[in-house]
Amino acid sequence: MSTVKEDRNNVLLEKGARYVSATNARAFDIVASRGQGSWLWDVNGTKYLDFTSGIAVNNVGHCHPKVVAAVKEQVEKLIHTAMVTSHEKLIELCEKIAQIAPGRLDTTFLNNSGGEAIDCAVKFARYVTKRPNTLCFTGSFHGRTLLATALTSSKSKYRDGYEPLPSGIQSMPYPYCYRCPVGQTPGQCKLECFDVVEHYFKHFVKPESVAAIVMEPQLGEGGYVVPGSGYTGADNYMRRLRELCDKYGIMLILDEVQSGFGRTGKWFAANHWDIEPDIMVCAKGIASGFPMAGIVSRHELFQKWPPGKHGSTYGGNPIACAAALASIGVIEEENLLENAEKSGIYLRHRVEEMQKQFGFIGDVRGLGLMIGIELVTEDGSPDSKRLEKLVEECFKRKMLMLDCGTDDHIIRFLPPLNVSREELDLGLSIFEESLKAVQ
Ligand SMILES: Cc1ncc(COP(=O)(O)O)c(C=O)c1O
Repeated sequence: MSTVKEDRNNVLLEKGARYVSATNARAFDIVASRGQGSWLWDVNGTKYLDFTSGIAVNNVGHCHPKVVAAVKEQVEKLIHTAMVTSHEKLIELCEKIAQIAPGRLDTTFLNNSGGEAIDCAVKFARYVTKRPNTLCFTGSFHGRTLLATALTSSKSKYRDGYEPLPSGIQSMPYPYCYRCPVGQTPGQCKLECFDVVEHYFKHFVKPESVAAIVMEPQLGEGGYVVPGSGYTGADNYMRRLRELCDKYGIMLILDEVQSGFGRTGKWFAANHWDIEPDIMVCAKGIASGFPMAGIVSRHELFQKWPPGKHGSTYGGNPIACAAALASIGVIEEENLLENAEKSGIYLRHRVEEMQKQFGFIGDVRGLGLMIGIELVTEDGSPDSKRLEKLVEECFKRKMLMLDCGTDDHIIRFLPPLNVSREELDLGLSIFEESLKAVQ
């Protein structure tokens, strides 16, 4: 009898390499079997501290008991109706979203993934404004559909090989203060990056032909950049963008796919600037991992989009709706907005302390528990090599962390919003040991 325990993880990975498309690349060679809160186990029983939250999806942690219970209850009652009928949970969820969405956003259309919801938002804006063009920002990631790909520029690899992409799209510089796209000094500038928008209107597209400006209110895959964070004036980039859209009748579409549902310490990142988008795009954290996404806008605008102009077979599925209602309930009952804000401040403070010791930490930034740490070489260039090693060192110590940024040189802290102080401290000590290991 063999005494060597079978490495089931590797056996399954080998089988998967034959049958599962490798295109949907995975960050770690783990076959997960179980998750609970901030923890994930593989099929061998190895336990990992998961600070990725399934890329900002498991905002209330893996398998929160209240989400599990709500899903179990729903699955016994009703699984699917498509657009054949409405159902209770759909109406309840849309009413709930109206209560937590910014300002006057009170009506929701649901579908299944972030990219699909981005397409939906642009179709909606084009239909309502009767205008053809869309502006977006360099460094953004909006998804994998062809239209979302055309709006995406976090990395050229996402576009390469898929051209021609849908037209009528212009990209503007994202207000990335740490690496100012127009060569200014953060805190001393006059938001020159904003003037580029008017420049575009003069040279490329008339504002009257622009249906929408699409923006991530904190850049996600592109590097966890908070827009205009180095600008200290009373006026700010996001407010000016809102005013510009009002001036020209352009719809402001905020992509809150990664930043939404409490991730930034408020329900939505838009709340940080007290602005109201015309259309808000949601996905990820909305339903704790059940496929759900959607757009939220004002009722009067939705009145201009007649029944049948857009649709989705699975959108607003009863089980996903039950999971979403339970997840929102948990965020409210467990005060997770407050916890995300407090834990985020603590995390940033601790990493800023580490920054004094490790000169290769260039920038620590982010809202709530959406924190990015940018690694730089001695001359200030992106240090992707060291970043790769850092992720590996964290993995060796059984902690999962993801990278992001155009040059893969930013590491992100994305624990669930209900992460405990003990778990944060454990994660921070693993992170510090890993920093030492790559010094
Ligand atoms: C900001 C943002 N928008 C859109 C998407 C696309 O979402 P999905 O993968 O659900 O299509 C993502 C995914 O990472 C994202 O981060």
